[in-house]
Amino acid sequence: MPNVQELRINGKAVRVEADRERSLLGVLRDDLGLSGAKYGCGEGRCGACTVLIDGTPTRSCITKLGAVASREITTIEGLEVDGKLHPLQEAFLDAGAMQCGYCTCGMIVTGVALLREKPQPTREEIVEYMDGNICRCGTYPRIIAAIRRAAQAVKEARR
Ligand code: FES
Ligand code: FES
Repeated sequence: MPNVQELRINGKAVRVEADRERSLLGVLRDDLGLSGAKYGCGEGRCGACTVLIDGTPTRSCITKLGAVASREITTIEGLEVDGKLHPLQEAFLDAGAMQCGYCTCGMIVTGVALLREKPQPTREEIVEYMDGNICRCGTYPRIIAAIRRAAQAVKEARR
């Protein structure tokens, strides 16, 4: 029997009729058409499904809908502001930090959280923070370059 859930997604109140036990990823993709987060392993091990819950990178495949009712959920679709991509989205494009793109949304969402915590991360800090996100195409060097590029772009924009 579906329950009505009031969610906050990308700054907006959203009402869904869904069982509290369903995965957040399934509801985002199948009920709400937010298909940026991907189903990879389904076990919390690859990061393809990552979204931010109250700013913290969270595996939506293993997060139950009932656990996020009053929390702020941010998906890749919510990073763009007034038609402008987030600097990290721009940097991924500029650095060509993707091949098949399956991991990309999870990488970017996780990278955004990193840059909020550490605006100028070292290479080692990037590697450590991004460690749980898997890219089967092996684009790690370009992903690291994109994060460093975004950090630099934000720094220069503040001058
Ligand atoms: S699909 Fe969620 S961590 Fe792999
Ligand atoms: S670009 Fe293919 S899995 Fe990362």
